[in-house]
Amino acid sequence: MRLAAVADIHLKAENHERDIQQFSVVNDLADALVIAGDLTNHGNPEEMKVVLGLLEHIRIPVIAVLGNHDHESGHQDEIAGMLRVAGVHLLDGHCFEVDGIGFAGTKGFCGGFAPYELMPFGEQGIKTFVEVAEREAVKLDYGLAQTHAAKKVSITHYSPIKDTIVGEPEPIFPFLGSSRLERALEVHKPVLAVHGHAHKGTFSAETKSGVRVCNVALPILRQRGEEHPFAIFNL
Ligand SMILES: [Fe+2]
Ligand SMILES: [Fe+2]
Repeated sequence: MRLAAVADIHLKAENHERDIQQFSVVNDLADALVIAGDLTNHGNPEEMKVVLGLLEHIRIPVIAVLGNHDHESGHQDEIAGMLRVAGVHLLDGHCFEVDGIGFAGTKGFCGGFAPYELMPFGEQGIKTFVEVAEREAVKLDYGLAQTHAAKKVSITHYSPIKDTIVGEPEPIFPFLGSSRLERALEVHKPVLAVHGHAHKGTFSAETKSGVRVCNVALPILRQRGEEHPFAIFNL
């Protein structure tokens, strides 16, 4: 399978014609397209209509997760519904199979990276925060466990490892991902884990056990000189 993947497209209405032109070539270059969150800037239904206007031109299966920006206005359920009605396979702890590849995904959350993860100790606010991170990791683990495909792909918006966010200011690393997501990758060994969120991160790295992790945030792809607004993986 030729898999196209991107994250952090943050579509704007004023670039609509250009975006349609640039993205629609994916129909000829890939068998499926993954969008790993931050499709919009503020998660408004009006912005999602712009995204759907682009996706109308994509004829291959589209598999996506939401990002933190898609939650900003509190309309995440509505925009998730809009994506699903448009035929997007929006993953939130589920899995979906295309051509023998099992995709599992969830937004993920922050909390930092081992051995400096935030732990559920002390105030209730800290415990609630960590609980959200743990729940997201359970959802990824569940999705990966549910797909029985020989090859699996993990999709999150937040990063499961530190090495693909290197390039961002170090003080904000704990807000860009969580090692709790990495543990699900180490159990289920997907052939690829894609994420976004860290716009100034690093394209490719590996978990401790060698699972390939790629930060496909669009600004990183642009900086790498990718000809198209997505990276292509041969799985
Ligand atoms: Fe983003
Ligand atoms: Fe983000």
